[in-house]
Amino acid sequence: LLVEKGNYRHFMEKEIHEQPDVLSRTLAHYLDFGTGTARPPGDGKIDFAALPRLSITACGTANYAGLVGKYWFEQLARLPVDIDVASEFRYREAPLTPGGLALFISQSGETADTLASLRYCREGGQTIASIVNVPTSTIARESDLAIPTLAGPEIGVASTKAFTCQLAVLASLAVAAGRARGHLDVAAEQALVAALGEVPRLVSDALALEGTIEAIARRLHRVSDVLYLGRGIAYPIALEGALKLKELSYIHAEGYAAGELKHGPIALIDEDVPVVVIAPFDRLFEKTASNMQEVAARGGRIVLITDQKGLEHAGITPAEVILMPEMPEAIMPIVYTVPIQLLAYYMAVANGTDVDQPRNLAKSVTVE
Ligand code: G6P
Repeated sequence: LLVEKGNYRHFMEKEIHEQPDVLSRTLAHYLDFGTGTARPPGDGKIDFAALPRLSITACGTANYAGLVGKYWFEQLARLPVDIDVASEFRYREAPLTPGGLALFISQSGETADTLASLRYCREGGQTIASIVNVPTSTIARESDLAIPTLAGPEIGVASTKAFTCQLAVLASLAVAAGRARGHLDVAAEQALVAALGEVPRLVSDALALEGTIEAIARRLHRVSDVLYLGRGIAYPIALEGALKLKELSYIHAEGYAAGELKHGPIALIDEDVPVVVIAPFDRLFEKTASNMQEVAARGGRIVLITDQKGLEHAGITPAEVILMPEMPEAIMPIVYTVPIQLLAYYMAVANGTDVDQPRNLAKSVTVE
């Protein structure tokens, strides 16, 4: 299969721009927009109503997708979720809950640690499901239920469209689980499905911020450390933002839960450390805003990713603003991923690194 870059400079840029299309395709596979319902995959192979516990295991970016999934499954379906990186899970000798579902997330479906974790759970009698982008992969084949992301081949080493498609699948599953477990009524399910239906358009709106983000990247790219902060479901996006930046631009970056700022990273803050704050105007906004004010009071250079209301209530004037459209909280992680991808991409371009093949990294890690 030959995949071309077309008019784009890098596969990564192309893959970022494919997101409205591949997200539409993936969402349409798991949601019925006509009736406003989620279609649980696998014809009842997963009995969400009876499920005592879900464990999610993955590596790298896929692990951060899983962490977003934890917030969704717990909030929308009241389903307890354990999440771990595969390299820890496989050796931890974790006790497995009888009747539990083990969910693995992998773009390639070949990551060695994820596969070893899957086999551990298979021996432990768990039902095995996997969210994979390569349907013929080992992880897909060894699962009771393979749940495909329809992102198409991803060439850039740093995952972009596969990640947002993993999120789209997880959100759809969480809605199906919420309905099956009686936590969401028909109206709530319809509202969530309608919100997910808005994702491709909102992702296009976010892509239109490319010029603004490129300009910000040009002003920032010489720094040596960047902190990313988020609270609630924005927290995993802060982790993913930091991962993308370090992978691509070789700038040291850390993602932190905004509330943990005072327990360590605040010691790093000065005018040389940009702090990217991912904070839509949601029910937790005031909390994140106060963390941001603590950063501002110490001279930190804030890059605020928020919407109009968030900007009005920030209580500070950020050095940089990436102004996002307003959207329901549930879909925020998918749409807010776009600016953090673009920021990492343009910082890397400004630094002249090899965007599609960053040093020392592999697209798929098939050895331990
Ligand atoms: C490598 C890639 C990452 C990816 C991770 C997990 O580290 O560089 O982009 O997130 O592996 O890969 P998987 O194929 O299992 O999603």
